[in-house]
Amino acid sequence: MKFFLDTANLEEIEQAASWGLLDGVTTNPTLIPREMERTGLTFKEILKKICKMVDGPVNGEVISTSAEGMLKEGRQIAKIDEKMVVKVPMTPEGMKAVKAFSHEGIGTNVTLIFSPSQALIAAKAGASYVSPFVGRIDDKSGDGMEVVSQIVQIFQNYVLPTEVLAASLRHPRHIVEAALLGADIATMPFDVLKKLFEHPLTDIGLKQFLKDWDAVKEKIAP
Ligand code: G3P
Repeated sequence: MKFFLDTANLEEIEQAASWGLLDGVTTNPTLIPREMERTGLTFKEILKKICKMVDGPVNGEVISTSAEGMLKEGRQIAKIDEKMVVKVPMTPEGMKAVKAFSHEGIGTNVTLIFSPSQALIAAKAGASYVSPFVGRIDDKSGDGMEVVSQIVQIFQNYVLPTEVLAASLRHPRHIVEAALLGADIATMPFDVLKKLFEHPLTDIGLKQFLKDWDAVKEKIAP
């Protein structure tokens, strides 16, 4: 399973990249303005910097709602770097744009997916990735992982090349469940990535090992 970071925060991306765990980055119109405010950098400057730090796809989202507007914006996003993927919302206009982008060889991630039928439509339009929003489905008392499971099954049935990018993941269990279901990618906030490392028994075990070693190190030192 590939790990993407769902953030535009350059410090978080740099740290995750230094761990050798980062396969890509997703951003959205909530995350990018936070980083613009924090750093004073522009939309384009932030995405350019992210592309330099990450060895994999970097997602930038359009904000237009018409296919024409999305195409104009998406072509500008794609020009930033060859790693750029254009994130497009799951609407009929969005699907028109996805079809055109796929003919132009521009990668797309269809976002705001909440049902298997939406994912199937996006795949038929030629999306490179679909992003089911697991946490937001759970927030409305739905079953986000069931949606991921059905999408994975449908894509397998028809050998569709579109990758399933599980998004809106809120805790480590979400990543494990998405991996068990065969989602291609999990995109997660930095704090969730950090939590994947953690287990209290690891900390207790390490502390004990170091204590035991310390107690005898003078006797056994070469
Ligand atoms: O980037 C889209 C998605 O991952 C957002 O997650 O937690 O805002 O529902 P969340």
